[in-house]
Amino acid sequence: MMAEERAVVEVEACTKSFDAGAGVVTAVDDVSLELVRGELVALVGPSGSGKSTLLSLVGALLAPTAGTVRFEGTDLTDLDDRQRTALRATRVGLVFQTAALVPFLTAAENVALVGGFAGMATGAARSRAEQLLTELELGARKDHRPGQLSGGEQQRVAIARAMLNEPRLLLADEPTAHLDRQRGSQVIELVAQAVHEHRCAGLVVTHDERIASQADRILRIEDGRLVDG
Ligand SMILES: Nc1ncnc2c1ncn2[C@@H]1O[C@H](COP(=O)(O)OP(=O)(O)OP(=O)(O)O)[C@@H](O)[C@H]1O
Ligand SMILES: [Mg+2]
Repeated sequence: MMAEERAVVEVEACTKSFDAGAGVVTAVDDVSLELVRGELVALVGPSGSGKSTLLSLVGALLAPTAGTVRFEGTDLTDLDDRQRTALRATRVGLVFQTAALVPFLTAAENVALVGGFAGMATGAARSRAEQLLTELELGARKDHRPGQLSGGEQQRVAIARAMLNEPRLLLADEPTAHLDRQRGSQVIELVAQAVHEHRCAGLVVTHDERIASQADRILRIEDGRLVDG
């Protein structure tokens, strides 16, 4: 599928070790993978298996101890800190376990806020924020503050915020951890829809097999290594 397109991210034989004082922990061990546009990949594995570390390598939040990460063909080790930060700000959208919205801003203001960091004009950021909220079935909630929204709705606002800068890559680390199954499942459905419609690459970390099954492809990790099945 889509083999003719160059991958957004290519991870090649990557290892990430931490020297925690009491000995070296290898969190990611010789992992290779590709993420392509328009495909949502789920990453599942037990606690401590290396999911968040691998997500951080993919999103240029951490540098590998060994191996290569290429983002749209550019080797991330060729970039300095400033260039890596710029790449994250303009090409990567991030969603975490909790939405961490600004409590005194409305949903639309929370989403539009990140446009300012990227130099987007206020009016353009605002209209794109409203369009994304509508796509995420929150059009009627755009003027509500986070405290007036359910957990699932807050996570959908966080997805809209992550999509504002039209990222090439959407990363989500257990975005449904604090949601019940039905709301969690709806959030993932909307993540998948965003990835498909905006043709970005997507990687979502989850513990939940049923949530993983909503992705286009599932990667399993155990003790830092990708395993089959
Ligand atoms: N900064 C760090 N320093 C030392 N060890 C770390 C660091 N970050 C992660 N680790 C270790 O690396 C391993 C993988 O951690 P990681 O956070 O990637 O796991 P995870 O699969 O995301 O787990 P969880 O499902 O609990 O979030 C763990 O053994 C963890 O203790
Ligand atoms: Mg984790």
